[in-house]
Amino acid sequence: MNIPNHTILAIESSCDDTGVAVIKGNQVLSNLVANQEVHSRFGGVVPELASRAHQSNIIPTLSLALKDANVNIKDIDAVAYTNGPGLSGSLLVGSSFAKSWAWANDIPTITVNHMRAHILAHFLDDSPSPNFPFLCLTVSGGHTQIVRVDSPSEMEVIGTTLDDAAGEAFDKVAKLIGLPYPGGPLIDKYSKLGDCKRFIFNKSNVFKLNLSFSGFKTQVLRFLQKNLQENPDFFIDANKQNLYDFCASVQHTIISMLMDKLVLAVQQTRIDEIAIAGGVSANSGLRNALEAKAKSDDWNIYIPQLRYCTDNAAMVGIVGVFDFEDERFGNLKDVPSPRLPDLRHSV
Ligand code: KG4
Ligand code: ZN
Repeated sequence: MNIPNHTILAIESSCDDTGVAVIKGNQVLSNLVANQEVHSRFGGVVPELASRAHQSNIIPTLSLALKDANVNIKDIDAVAYTNGPGLSGSLLVGSSFAKSWAWANDIPTITVNHMRAHILAHFLDDSPSPNFPFLCLTVSGGHTQIVRVDSPSEMEVIGTTLDDAAGEAFDKVAKLIGLPYPGGPLIDKYSKLGDCKRFIFNKSNVFKLNLSFSGFKTQVLRFLQKNLQENPDFFIDANKQNLYDFCASVQHTIISMLMDKLVLAVQQTRIDEIAIAGGVSANSGLRNALEAKAKSDDWNIYIPQLRYCTDNAAMVGIVGVFDFEDERFGNLKDVPSPRLPDLRHSV
C-alpha cells in the first residue's frame, strides 16, 4: 500500500506506558516507551499513579524521541495523540501536553483512537501489510474485539467481549496465583514448560462473534480454592510442574476461545486476511494457533513485530499519517474520551 510521506510526532498515554515516537510515512525514526514499574506490586494499574508518572515521563521521553529521530522541529507536520479509550487522567496528561506542544510550534493536532492505532500498526515499516478488507483480532488489557477493516478509516467491530478483555483474564489469573502485573507475559513464559491438557477448563460460549471471560475466571478461582485447600503447596512442588501445567492450561483455554470466534468470523465474512493486534498478540500460543491455521486453512496471517504489539506511540503516528493526508485535524477544544466509541459497532 502507498503510505503518504508526512512527518508526525506521536504521543501515547492511554494507560500506564508513556510513548513518544517520530515517524515519516511508515518509517519509524524513533519510538520510545517509558514503562511504569510502580504498578507491578499492586497487581494492576493504579490510575492516579499512572497520571503522575506520565507527568514526570512525558518531557524527558519527548526530548529523547526528538534526539533519536534526528529531525528538526520545523520538519514535523502534525502532532498525533491518543484521545481515547483509556484512563481519564492518563489521557488528560498526554492530550494537554500534545495540544500545548502543537500550539507552541504552530502545527495541527490529530486525535487518535487507541484501538484503531493498534490495528494500523500493521502498516509500520516495510513488512508485508494486510490487504483490505481484512479481519483484525484486537486483544489487549482493556479490549477484545474482532474488527472488519475496509480501509484505514473504515472499520467495524463485529465481535467484542461482554465483560473482561483477554489480557485482563491473563492478568487476573496471574494475580490469583501471586504473579506480578502484568501477568500475561509470565503466564506465556511458564506455559512453554507445561502440559496444556493437564487441567481442563470449560470454554464459555456466548452469542454471535462475542466473547466472555468472567465464567472462566470463576472456574479458575474455584479450581485454585479446591486444589490449594487440599494441598497448600500445590504451586511449590519440587520442579514447579503444577505451576507450569496450570499456566499452559489457562493459556490454552483463553486462546481456544479467541480462535473459535475468529474461525466463525472467517466463515461468516469469507475474509481470510487475518491480522492480530494489541498486547496479547505477543502471546506465543496465539501466534502458534494462527500459524497452524495459515497452514491448514490457507489464511493469510499478519502478526505484528513484538515492539508494536504492546502500547507504543509509533502506532499512533501511523494513524496520524493517514489522517493528515485526509486533512482530518483536531483543535485545541478537543477533550479526551475514556470510552471513545470511534470504531463503528454492529454487535
Ligand atoms: O495493548 P496493551 O499493551 O495495553 C492495553 O491497551 O491494554 O496490552 C497489555 C495487555 C496486558 O493485559 C498484558 O498482560 C498482555 O497485554 N500481554 C500478554 C502478553 N504480553 C502482553 N498476554 C499474554 N501473553 C503475552 N505474551
Ligand atoms: Zn493498547
